[in-house]
Amino acid sequence: MSARALVLPLVLAAFVAACGGDQTPASPTPPPPASSAAVTVSAAPNPLAAIADPSGVAERYRVSANLTFRETAGIAATVTVLTVTVWSTASPPWSSTSSTNVSIAVGAKGTAAYTLPTTFDAAAADPAARWQLDVTAADAEGKAVSIAPVQVMMAVPPRPVADAVLVGAGDVDGCGRAEPEYTARLLDRIPGTVFVAGDATYPSGTMASYTSCYGPTWGRHLWRTFAVPGNHDYQSDGGAAFYQYFGTAAGPPGLGYHSHTLGAWHVVMLNSEIPVKAGSPQYEWLRQDLGASTAACTVAVWHHPLFSSGQNGNSAFMRDVWNLMFQYGVDVVVNGHDHLYERFAPQDANGRAHARGIREFVVGTGGYPLYNRGQTQANSEVFENKTYGVLKLTLKSGKYDWEFIPIDGQTFRDAGSGTCVTPAASAGAPQPDHLTILAARGG
Ligand SMILES: [Fe+2]
Repeated sequence: MSARALVLPLVLAAFVAACGGDQTPASPTPPPPASSAAVTVSAAPNPLAAIADPSGVAERYRVSANLTFRETAGIAATVTVLTVTVWSTASPPWSSTSSTNVSIAVGAKGTAAYTLPTTFDAAAADPAARWQLDVTAADAEGKAVSIAPVQVMMAVPPRPVADAVLVGAGDVDGCGRAEPEYTARLLDRIPGTVFVAGDATYPSGTMASYTSCYGPTWGRHLWRTFAVPGNHDYQSDGGAAFYQYFGTAAGPPGLGYHSHTLGAWHVVMLNSEIPVKAGSPQYEWLRQDLGASTAACTVAVWHHPLFSSGQNGNSAFMRDVWNLMFQYGVDVVVNGHDHLYERFAPQDANGRAHARGIREFVVGTGGYPLYNRGQTQANSEVFENKTYGVLKLTLKSGKYDWEFIPIDGQTFRDAGSGTCVTPAASAGAPQPDHLTILAARGG
C-alpha cells in the first residue's frame, strides 16, 4: 500500500478520535480539555532546489524546506516523520518515497524545527507539473499514526529545452523549374520542422499542381511541414485543394490558422487569405492563443508581409495582427509573397524601430522567379533579390539564430542572432506555500 493510501484513513481516524467519535449536538457547556496534541507545521516557500547535472539539465531535486512544528492543544507530543513522498502530476505520474524515521519532540504549545533531508531523481521532471509533498508520522508510543497528508506547491526550476530548427520559405512551385528542387535539396540536409509561408504552387492551387509540382520537391518533407496558404493557393478553389493536400500540416480546413510548440518556442501560423483584422474570428483566436501561451518566445508565419521593400510592397491589412503580437511580445515574423529575401530591425506596427519590437523576415525565395525592388521601407536591414534559398531559424531558450542559406552555386548569406523580447505585462511570482500536519495522541 502506498504512503498516500495509508494516510487518508488514518487522518479520518484522527479526527474521529479528537472529536469523541460521535455526532453529539451542540452543548452550552464548555468543551472538555483536549485529550490529543494538535501539531501544525509550516514550510518555507520554494522547498525544491535543483541539482544540475553536468549537461546542465536539472533532473535531480532536493527538498530543502525548513519545517516548523507547532503544538497548539497544550499537550506535548512526539512526531516521527516516517516517510516523505514527493510526487508529480506530470504525465505519466511520478513519485518518489524516502524513509526518514526521525523523531521530533514538540512541547506543549511549543515549536520544533526540522529540515527535510530528501533528495530524489525526477525522471519525469516537467516545469508545468504540480509538485506535492506527503509526510506520514507516528506518535511517541509508536502507535496511532495519525498525520494528515500534507501538500505543498513547489517551485520546480525550469528545465532547459533542446534547441529546435524551423526552416523554409514561401513561393515554391516546382513544375518546369529547377530552383524548387534546389531549395528542396537544402531541406534534405537540414533537420527540423519545415515551414511554407504560402504560395506553395502556381499559378493556382489545384490538386494536380500540388501533387505533380510541389509534391516531388518540397512535398517530400510534407511529414515535417507547417503550412499557411497564399493568394495562389486560394486562387482557383478558395483553398480546397490546399487543405486537402497539406492535411494536418495546414491546420483546420477552411481556417488555416494553427499554433504549435517547437522546443522552447510557440509557433503561430496565420492565414492572410481570410479576414484577420481586429474583430475577425481569426484575430480573436490569435488573442486567446497568445494569451494562453506560456512560452517566452514566439515566431509567427503568414504570407502577406506588413512590411516589404519588394514590388508587392506593404500589406497594411496585417497591421492589427502586428499590434496584437507586439502587445504579447512576439519575437519573429516570417512572410513570403514578395519573391526576395529581406530582414528588418525589430519594430512596431507603424514601422518605428523599437527595442521590444518584432523582427520580420520576407523569404519568398522558395523557387518561383524572383521580384524587383520596390519602395525601400524603414528599418530594412538586408535586401536581396538575386538568390534562391531558405531561412533557417534555430529556436533556443530565450534567443534565436537566423541564417539565410542559398542554393548550391549561389553565395549570398545572411546570419545573426536575436534575443526574445519581454512583453509589457509579465506573470507574477509564485506565492509561498504551507504545510499543515495534525497529530493526535491516544488519550
Ligand atoms: Fe503571394
